[in-house]
Amino acid sequence: MNQYEIVTERTEILGEGPTWDSRNQTVYWIDIKGMHFSSLRLGGKNIETLKTKGMISSLVPSRSGKLYATIGHGYYRINPTNGDEELLGEVEKDISSNRFNDGKVDPFGNYWAGTMDMNEKSPAGALYVYTHEGDLKKVLNHFTISNGLSWNYEKKKFYHIDTPTRKVMVYDFDENCHLTNGKVAVDMGHEDGFPDGMNMDSKGMLWVCHWAGHQVSQWNPDTGKKLQSIKLPATNVTSCVFGGKDLDQLFVSSAKLTDAQAPNVSDMGGSVFRLKADVSGVETYKFKD
Ligand code: BGC
Ligand code: CA
Repeated sequence: MNQYEIVTERTEILGEGPTWDSRNQTVYWIDIKGMHFSSLRLGGKNIETLKTKGMISSLVPSRSGKLYATIGHGYYRINPTNGDEELLGEVEKDISSNRFNDGKVDPFGNYWAGTMDMNEKSPAGALYVYTHEGDLKKVLNHFTISNGLSWNYEKKKFYHIDTPTRKVMVYDFDENCHLTNGKVAVDMGHEDGFPDGMNMDSKGMLWVCHWAGHQVSQWNPDTGKKLQSIKLPATNVTSCVFGGKDLDQLFVSSAKLTDAQAPNVSDMGGSVFRLKADVSGVETYKFKD
């Protein structure tokens, strides 16, 4: 793995959630605080950006060619041409200090997303799933910053990060969206920064982004051991996805420094990076609609 290339430089405040659609060879990403999402077709030069009415926290392609997103407290269907938003369901409307955060589709086509406390202090968040049948269900409780989600290739395990715990949890998972037998897969307590978004490669290893930690690192979730880490010139590395024709490019999002972080003139936070991976990934799952 190695040299990175910058796909887009410093345009995002809280750049997040890259996702890939092989049908149009397009990488999408979002800016939660900038309230927009962008896309770039590989080989093309033009980045397209559409505004959202609230804080978009995840974006997923669907099997029928639409886009779905979590924005603020809701799940939405998005018209990919003009950005029109159609509300599908809402959660936690009574908790104004919460919002949706990271979300992704599972191998069966259900859209999972967690919520977070915007003050990053109280475990008032939860994990939800919007099923392909249109049911919105709460699955787990008590998260402060629900973040990275991934499923293994065999469709039997689900991995999840609640950022302040600095751990990746693993659960047994089934087609009916039941999670059981939760335990710690990776403890990142001694690592730089905090685990944020993640993705799994085709060998079943997890790629975890380090908020406040300048890197993306690869872990074996069966042993809890770190395999490699790739440093990036951004403090807040937020999420990653495999893309490209052979799914061997890792697109990595990042965020600008927050007010609470020391100023650092050389920080490239807000860029989207592309790394050539020494392993391929798994195609981003599409929402079943
Ligand atoms: C959230 C941010 C948070 C960061 C680090 C991101 O997923 O959207 O608000 O500061 O994780 O925990
Ligand atoms: Ca995140």
